[in-house]
Amino acid sequence: MSPTAITRPPAPWLRDNCPCTECRDPRTGQKLFQITELPAGLAVGSVREAPAADGGPGWEVVWRPDGHRSVYAAGWLDAHGPDGPAYRRAGDGRTEADKDLWAAADLDGRVPEAGWDAYTSSREVRGRALDSVVRLGFVLLRDVPCRDRMVLDVARTFGFVRETNYGELFEVRVEADPNNLAFTGARITPHTDNPYRDPVPTLQLLHCLRNEARGGDSGLVDGFHAAALLREREPGAFEVLTRVPVEFAFADARCELRAHRPLIGVDPLGRVREVRFNNRSISTLHQPASVLEEFYAAYRLFGELLERPGLRLDFRLAPGDCVVFDNTRLLHARTAFAESGGRHLQGTYADIDGLLSTLAVLRRDGARA
Ligand code: OGA
Ligand code: ZN
Ligand code: ZN
Repeated sequence: MSPTAITRPPAPWLRDNCPCTECRDPRTGQKLFQITELPAGLAVGSVREAPAADGGPGWEVVWRPDGHRSVYAAGWLDAHGPDGPAYRRAGDGRTEADKDLWAAADLDGRVPEAGWDAYTSSREVRGRALDSVVRLGFVLLRDVPCRDRMVLDVARTFGFVRETNYGELFEVRVEADPNNLAFTGARITPHTDNPYRDPVPTLQLLHCLRNEARGGDSGLVDGFHAAALLREREPGAFEVLTRVPVEFAFADARCELRAHRPLIGVDPLGRVREVRFNNRSISTLHQPASVLEEFYAAYRLFGELLERPGLRLDFRLAPGDCVVFDNTRLLHARTAFAESGGRHLQGTYADIDGLLSTLAVLRRDGARA
C-alpha cells in the first residue's frame, strides 16, 4: 500500500467521500452533510493503516480541526483517487468518446437487431439490444406483435413513455388535415425529432404496423459521426454550430413549442454530446448579420455531410419491426410514398436515463448471478 494514495487527494475531496455512518446514511448511502458544514481549513491530521469496513486493507485518517475519523478502503482509493482509472475514463457515457461511430458500410451485415421473443425472454439478448442503443444509437426489434399501442409496451421494457402534446403515442400515417409533414406521403429528410422541446426526448421508437405503399423506405444517419467529420474538415464551421443558438419552433391549434439550442451540443471538454437537426422546424434566427452569415455556411456544410452517400443506413421497415433510437444522436428519414398505399407506423418517445438504468441493473444482477 503506497501512502501517496491517501496523501495525494485534496482534503475536501477526501473528506467529502468519507464512508462513515455519520457522513452517509447507511440505509440509502446518501450524504448527510452539506459542503458548508465541513470545517474551514480542513486538513489531514494523522494517517495510519487500518482495516476498512469490508475487512480489507485501508487507511484511517483523523481530521483537523474537528477530530473526525474516516476509514478508506485501499481498493476504493486505487479505483477512484485522482489520476486513477475512473479519472482516465471520466465521461458520462453520452458523448462521442463512449460511442461506436458508424457509417452504413461499417454496419454491413451487422445491423443490431433482436427478435421480440428472445428480447423479452432472455436477459442477455435484452442487454445486448439495449447496449446497441447506447453504443450504436439504435436497435431494430423484429416480430414485435402488430397490435395497436404495442409501441408503448416496447418502451416499457426499458423505461418510461414520454407523453407529449402528440399524446402517449403518435400515428404516422397519411392524414386528411396534417399538422406535420410526417403525416403526409412526403419524403422526410434526415432529422432529429422535436428539437423545439427542451429537454428534447432522448429516445424515439417507431413500430411498423403496415408498409404496403410504394416508397416509404427508412434511413438512419449517425449524427455524431457527421459532426466529427465536420470538425475534421471544417473546424471553424463545427465551432460555429456548437456556439450559435438555433431557434426551433412548432405550433398548431393547441400548442406552441420553442427551444433555443445549438445544432451540435458539446460537453465541457468539447466532445459531441447532442445533435439537433430538423429543416422543418428550424425557425427564424435572430442574430447579428455576421453570425447569420457564418451560421448558414456551417449549417449547409453540416447538411451536406449528413447527405453524404455512404453515411446513411437505408432499410425498409416490415410489419412487426420496431426501431428504437437515440434521438440526440441519430437522424432518421424516410423516402416519399404513394398516399394511396397502406403505411402505418406508431411512434412514441422515451428517455435514455431509464434505458441506461435498466441496462446497468441487468449488468449488476448478471455480475452477481
Ligand atoms: C416521424 C418520422 C418517419 C417515417 O414521424 O418522426 O420521421 O418513417 N417518420 O415515417
Ligand atoms: Zn465521516
Ligand atoms: Zn421524425
